[in-house]
Amino acid sequence: MSAGFTLALCAICVLPSAFAASLPLGPLGAIPRAHFQNRQSIRSTTDPSAVFVPEYAQRESWGILAKYQQSDVLLQGANVSPSGINNNQNGLVGPDVTSGLPAPTSEQIVPLQAISSASDSILSYHAMIDIGTPAQHLGLVIDTGVADSWVAASCNDCETEQFDASASNTYRSFPGDFRQAYGNGYVWGTWSRDNVTASGLTASPQSFGSVTAMDVGNVAYSVSGVLGFAFASISSTKKTPFFESLISEASLPFPLFSVALGRGGDTDDSELCLGCINNSKYNGNITWIPLVSHTYWTIMLSGLQVGGLNTMTTGLLAAIDTASNQIHVPMSVAKRFYATIPGSKPALSYGEGFWTFPCNSSPDIQFIFMGPTFSLDPRDFNLGKTSSSSADCVGAVLGMKGRDLPDNFAVIGSAFLRSWYTVFDYSSGSRIGFGSRSTA
Ligand SMILES: *[C@@H]1O[C@H](CO)[C@@H](O)[C@H](O)[C@H]1NC(C)=O
Ligand SMILES: *[C@@H]1O[C@H](CO)[C@@H](O)[C@H](O)[C@H]1NC(C)=O
Ligand SMILES: *[C@@H]1O[C@H](CO)[C@@H](O)[C@H](O)[C@H]1NC(C)=O
Repeated sequence: MSAGFTLALCAICVLPSAFAASLPLGPLGAIPRAHFQNRQSIRSTTDPSAVFVPEYAQRESWGILAKYQQSDVLLQGANVSPSGINNNQNGLVGPDVTSGLPAPTSEQIVPLQAISSASDSILSYHAMIDIGTPAQHLGLVIDTGVADSWVAASCNDCETEQFDASASNTYRSFPGDFRQAYGNGYVWGTWSRDNVTASGLTASPQSFGSVTAMDVGNVAYSVSGVLGFAFASISSTKKTPFFESLISEASLPFPLFSVALGRGGDTDDSELCLGCINNSKYNGNITWIPLVSHTYWTIMLSGLQVGGLNTMTTGLLAAIDTASNQIHVPMSVAKRFYATIPGSKPALSYGEGFWTFPCNSSPDIQFIFMGPTFSLDPRDFNLGKTSSSSADCVGAVLGMKGRDLPDNFAVIGSAFLRSWYTVFDYSSGSRIGFGSRSTA
């Protein structure tokens, strides 16, 4: 029995009333917005006249190869046989927990700030997290593609807000080097532990890397750290990830978390819901898709359609990754995909894997996960014009070619997730739920 499954069984036993009683006193309020505004501009991604800024998308393409370099090993044994589709024609699995869930409390709601770089089409979603005693507030990237968390601490070359370990009386460091792929490089330091609190929920103590050095290439924005939400099975040293700590410390009514990602701008409503589903964030019902691997949040992408035509010949293992922007598919899949969009061409000046399409076309793009189809909003498919006077725009579906990556692997980033309220559920055998986002 896997660790995730064991945790899920225990956590379901916890009654919602126990949850309320176990909340720490004095939960924090909303994110102080000024904290982010001091550092980065906040823009909307929906500006149709935006010009594509290649360096950020290129960085992500390189970074994906480093981030997922272990995927070949980690995903071995995952079920991608097309026969898996027939077991679940409509993709609906397990009980529909949405009606039985208590409404989220403010202690469970973590507002996310969508931070843009110079390019309107690239957003990074940060949560204000409290670390240590007394609490220090740091904006950490929410990342469902890694299990380990880290914060910059005593990092001389990091141009970012940092955690001051010496100022926390609950901080402990312990032996063991920490290293994680980030950007198109690495961060490294040592393992440590301290209290980590998101909104009103505390993991105490929580293991994380104290990062003392970064070599991350040209990252698009300054980053104080990452809060990893993937499964413990892919933790480099099998440390319990933050959310699994919350589950085992029995303070959640259900072992699931939900993510709403906005398009930036003043009306952005990005949010993380810990142990809850915010019914106001989506329309209709949640559609559930079973996981095919408890490593990354991996589901089977069984089809990729343009105007109703499927461009895929075989299923892909798709990691749902809140910290990536684009949609990364094998190069051969990207080639067939763009071949069905009239007027599209490879954009080799940006590198292999980039394509343009006519800005005035609005391709009807659908992702099929084990049966049900999910559309990609044309605004999120468009990464921007190649120049201010150009009629060609860069597409958010990128081809990837990594020596070490499995050839049936895809990474689904926020370009897709902005249209779909996403529930990451450890129960019912573990599954992903998508609900149609109710706001523009
Ligand atoms: C922080 O951790 C310590 C030691 O585990 C614990 O006693 C204390 O209650 C924690 N503080 C908070 C705010 O959770
Ligand atoms: C749920 O989402 C709605 C709509 O975005 C928001 O107004 C509300 O604050 C969120 N949180 C709770 C606890 O309902
Ligand atoms: C949602 O699910 C309920 C219960 O299964 C069903 O009655 C209802 O028709 C569904 N609504 C939509 C919009 O699919």
